[in-house]
Amino acid sequence: MQILINEMKRWMVEAGENLKKALAKESLEVDTKSSRTDLVTNLDKQTQDFLIERIVSFDSTANILAEENGKHALSSMEGRVYVIDPIDGTMNFVLEGENFCIMVGIYEDGEPVLGFIYNVIKEEFLWGGPSIGVYLNEDRVNQPTIPSLSAGLVGINCKMYRENVGNSQEIGRRSMGVRMSGCAGVELVHLALGRRVAYISNLSPWDYAAGGAILQTFGMKLSNFNGEPLKFDGQEQFLAASAPIYDEILAIALNTEK
Ligand code: IPD
Ligand code: CA
Ligand code: CA
Repeated sequence: MQILINEMKRWMVEAGENLKKALAKESLEVDTKSSRTDLVTNLDKQTQDFLIERIVSFDSTANILAEENGKHALSSMEGRVYVIDPIDGTMNFVLEGENFCIMVGIYEDGEPVLGFIYNVIKEEFLWGGPSIGVYLNEDRVNQPTIPSLSAGLVGINCKMYRENVGNSQEIGRRSMGVRMSGCAGVELVHLALGRRVAYISNLSPWDYAAGGAILQTFGMKLSNFNGEPLKFDGQEQFLAASAPIYDEILAIALNTEK
């Protein structure tokens, strides 16, 4: 496992260097997918191809679930599955040139093994898994002490908040404040490091796979917004938080508060 970890970090940092160079040259080809605001660039596709090529030549048993180039569905999560988001936060990548991540989650028969989230511009690399613990760059990270919903910040997807999905405005009101970074990876790193008390969004498997493996290492809870297990199949409304805060938020979302 150590060789896989070292290689994965090396490939992701190399991919990140290529993204920095592309940003410096301002040579992006930007396209839309499902809507005007659902962007994809030549770099999303190139980064994904680069990572898949490295993974498959390292691990011949690899199954791939990835956002771009027609790799977005798998019939099952059996075996070893690498779930890849080549650029998480493509809108930020294009319009801000920062606040985007490269993410890979590794699962074995649906169980988390490893998660890697690389914030390219910050050079903040969070990685780990249930059998090894969690690391920020080279330093071991301890499970954060998360106070309470009322004492921390909540990351909430802008549209869900605007439309008050699952009473998200009330959830925000009971917190210290709402943050919207436009990047699931950024939010999940914040949550793992105790800078957020919860994250609520509408996510696909490649958005939550890497962060999910890391959060579960810390015993945090994640599910869809009905409290059901995530399916790794299409987009779902998503909630992640440490256990007591997760229960508190789900009760507000489902109107089941006592
Ligand atoms: C998106 C970002 C965003 C989240 C969207 C994702 P992408 O990822 O993580 O924060 O709200 O649901 O699709 O498309 O930039 O990889
Ligand atoms: Ca994403
Ligand atoms: Ca993406």
